[in-house]
Amino acid sequence: MIFEHISTGGCQSYLVGCPDTCSAILIDPELSRIDRYLALAARDGLRIHYVIDTHTHADHFSASRALAAQLDVPVVMHRFSPAPYVDLRLEDGEMLVVGKMRVQAMHTPGHTRDSICLRIEDRIFTGDTLLIGGTGRTDLPTGNPEALHDSLFGHLLKLDPALQVYPAHDYKGASASTLGAELANNPRLQKRSREEFVAMMNNLNLGMPTHLNEALRTNMSGGKTVAQMLADAAAVVPFMSLDELNARIAAGESDLLVLDVREREAYDKAHIPGARLLPRGQLELRVNQDLPDPTRRIVSYCEFGRISTLATATLRELGFARAVALDGGLRAWTEAGYPLTAKSD
Ligand SMILES: [Fe+2]
Repeated sequence: MIFEHISTGGCQSYLVGCPDTCSAILIDPELSRIDRYLALAARDGLRIHYVIDTHTHADHFSASRALAAQLDVPVVMHRFSPAPYVDLRLEDGEMLVVGKMRVQAMHTPGHTRDSICLRIEDRIFTGDTLLIGGTGRTDLPTGNPEALHDSLFGHLLKLDPALQVYPAHDYKGASASTLGAELANNPRLQKRSREEFVAMMNNLNLGMPTHLNEALRTNMSGGKTVAQMLADAAAVVPFMSLDELNARIAAGESDLLVLDVREREAYDKAHIPGARLLPRGQLELRVNQDLPDPTRRIVSYCEFGRISTLATATLRELGFARAVALDGGLRAWTEAGYPLTAKSD
């Protein structure tokens, strides 16, 4: 087995390949690491055939949809996954054949209703059903402590105790464990009666994950994260540095239109000398009147450099082929000590 373990903060992803055929699967990929997964697969000479999420993640952004689209392979999840972009929906006891490797799925609801564990040879990928020294929580949407108890004690922990455990999360830097070691030492597995286990899970009083709403929205719908929207815009937009713009303004370059896409109130307080105001929210409404020349060279800016990236992408879509965004916003411009004015042109 060719095996890569990719850790992103507490999130764990796994690239698992068949050495005879160079076929592979990718388990629980995280959105910010797409290039890393693809680079590892290329380095190891692997072709990814399936991208699998062990469940609907509530705490990080799944890369499954984006990767599957790039690789033209199916997204695999349990049948109960709410995500409309899942191509292959597994049920308990089903298996994927990946080269000479067999990927055995078991349905283990509890952390979420759509949780699965995947057994491949000597190891089991437990998602958030079983963590090293812990279990997944059961207080997020579709979580159910009774179901988790049944999945653990009635199903997962009945498998071969020598199976190595690879969870979807690990916050403690734990390296390896086995089902047997977890059964013996994992503090969450010591309350084995259903009532005691459920009472323990119901009294964990955990804080909510940082990106809960955005993670559920994007992972359940296939929609984009805000960071993805910005990255997509930044990928099609050239930037101009603060230095470069300052030098061009100082040199009196007249064919460069500096466009402030913030709101009127912010513009009136202070803006880059010579900048014209066209708030992002009014861009499409006013573009024809305010910017009649699509060949004009435009550099747009906002407070932090994010909204101006979106505005510049919109301008380029509208045909302003020479629109660029300032690398940084008025905040960075001010901190750099470059000139400001409150006077409108
Ligand atoms: Fe989870």
